[in-house]
Amino acid sequence: MTATAITNIGELVTNDPEAADLLGVVADAAVVVEGATVAWVGPAAAAPPADQQVDAGGRAVIPGFVDSHSHLVFAGDRAAEFAARMSGEPYAAGGIRRTVAATRAATDEQLTSQVARLVAEMRRQGTTTVEIKSGYGLTAHDEARSLAVARQFTVETTYLGAHVVPDGTTPEEYVALVTGPMLEACAPYARWIDAFCETGAFDADQSRAVLTAGAAAGLRGRLHANQLGPGPGVRLACDLGLTAVDHCTYLSDDDVSALADSGTIATLLAGVEFSTRQPYPDARRLIDAGALVALASDCNPGSCFTSSLPFCVALAVREMRMTPAEALYAATAGGAAALDRDDVGSLLPGKRADLVLLDAPTYVHLAYRPGVPLVAQTWVSGRPV
Ligand code: NIG
Ligand code: FE
Repeated sequence: MTATAITNIGELVTNDPEAADLLGVVADAAVVVEGATVAWVGPAAAAPPADQQVDAGGRAVIPGFVDSHSHLVFAGDRAAEFAARMSGEPYAAGGIRRTVAATRAATDEQLTSQVARLVAEMRRQGTTTVEIKSGYGLTAHDEARSLAVARQFTVETTYLGAHVVPDGTTPEEYVALVTGPMLEACAPYARWIDAFCETGAFDADQSRAVLTAGAAAGLRGRLHANQLGPGPGVRLACDLGLTAVDHCTYLSDDDVSALADSGTIATLLAGVEFSTRQPYPDARRLIDAGALVALASDCNPGSCFTSSLPFCVALAVREMRMTPAEALYAATAGGAAALDRDDVGSLLPGKRADLVLLDAPTYVHLAYRPGVPLVAQTWVSGRPV
């Protein structure tokens, strides 16, 4: 197998759990890639021989971003809703129904090309693993085809039939559909199941019923919770031992303790607070309590239409009181933990060679130079893409 050495790396972020610092930073480093896998990392002066060399020109190299929360399968545009919000309208989950109508009317080809466009946009910004949810179909047929489209791009697909109750059905009828025939149609295309546990969407009992039915069908659980106000979702996620609970915008002290005492990852979605003018959650409070934190984009047409994890890192540092190191860790190793993956999110021998060359001498520039396109090159499975 051909070995490629990326040399002359000014600063390498490995996320090595054995390192003294959070990011396992190595200065003047090299990475040797064999096939799709990292074979060696360390100081360039100690690098083993390789068949070919790539000169990083002193750039910083980081693990590819792991975006553990997105809703890319949709049609239509809600720019007018965003503009109205910026003129004072509140964000309401009801806008989801507008996207549902547009998504149902779209062809499979239209949905596929939309996801392809957004995944390419993510890659240009350094994302190498993405989770994609359904949730804008809300019929067995439209949820299953949304997941079939998502499956063409990632193994991390999430069935979110429990997004909102569609018009023309009662909550009881709809939960029966989501936990019955719709689950049966979707399970073959999904790894995860999710529900929107929020006033106006699904309550704790309904969310628990959805997650329990999903678990019985072999799907792992994650949950949207505490986005629009305080609520029972975060504690439900911790009680059920879910891998991740996402949003966590409004947290009580009990919620923070529950997260700190559980292995459930709190996924913070800074772009949502930016795009809905909601208060940012305080990541410092979570980290200092001992909770595990991830950062993700939540890319969707309503509450947050950014695909950029560099932007989310910058927001998390400026607005959520994370250090640049904590924010980068949360968007890489944190995202991998939130997807229960140990092959991505770090650059160590045996891991997938997913990495990003930054036009910057240090990863700190991700927050220090917000809005600047710093991603020079993204590598997925050992190759530039
Ligand atoms: O994660 N919270 C629920 N779902 C999305 C928003 C969906 C929409 O507004 O279309 C979210 O914010
Ligand atoms: Fe979401």
